Amino acid sequence: MTAKTRKLTVFIVITVLLIAAGTVFIVRQANMRHSREEEAEEMAAEPEAPAPQTEEEQDAPDIDYLILVDKNHMLPDDWEEKISLVSTVNSVGDEVWTEETAYDAYLKLKDNLAQEGIYVELDSAYRSVADQQKIIDDFTEKYGEAYAHTYASEPGTSEHHTGLALDLYLIVDGNTVYENEDLVQYPEIWARIHEKLPDYGFILRYPEGNSSGYPYEPWHIRYVGIEAAKEMTENGLTLEEYLN
Ligand code: DAL
Ligand code: ZN
Repeated sequence: MTAKTRKLTVFIVITVLLIAAGTVFIVRQANMRHSREEEAEEMAAEPEAPAPQTEEEQDAPDIDYLILVDKNHMLPDDWEEKISLVSTVNSVGDEVWTEETAYDAYLKLKDNLAQEGIYVELDSAYRSVADQQKIIDDFTEKYGEAYAHTYASEPGTSEHHTGLALDLYLIVDGNTVYENEDLVQYPEIWARIHEKLPDYGFILRYPEGNSSGYPYEPWHIRYVGIEAAKEMTENGLTLEEYLN
């Protein structure tokens, strides 16, 4: 082999090796790009992970705060075993039981009102079926049967059985205002209370002119949660209308 032929052979071998290395490099790059694209597509197709729960949501009991109990909807059989009730003693010495989340919300509402010189107390919240019957009996004795059956639900159909309905009474100028006929004498105070309710998750359950079958009850508020309370209040909906 002449020197010239040897040089040519070396040149050809080097050229072939360079072309081979270049081809391997290009194929590799293409494969890597392809798998990166596949990975990106897979990630895009994966469902979004749910937003982590807030501490308040994690602690909230697993019950339906929109539960409907009215003249046409009896309390569900398993309700009472699902709820946690807390006990408090009001300013006239009566023990009142309330569902725990509704009670916390009530305390915040009460504190906020007190800062404006409005003082509320809890007359009644959770009632067993037997408690409700006793209210009908007491009202019947005090005001007559017609009044009792107008203002008090039949046992089993009162939303007080849920622990989420609260009856308030007032302390005005240091005096306890407790009876229904006295409570209605303070429309300005009730108006100021009612406007704050949604911020604490409450609605006024039986407003004037409501279609629930019960008269206006400025004292009867119902816990439904802040979001639902705001939506119902802004749109002027009762619980029944909201759920429909
Ligand atoms: N006062 C309301 C309607 C009740 O007894 O449940
Ligand atoms: Zn009530």
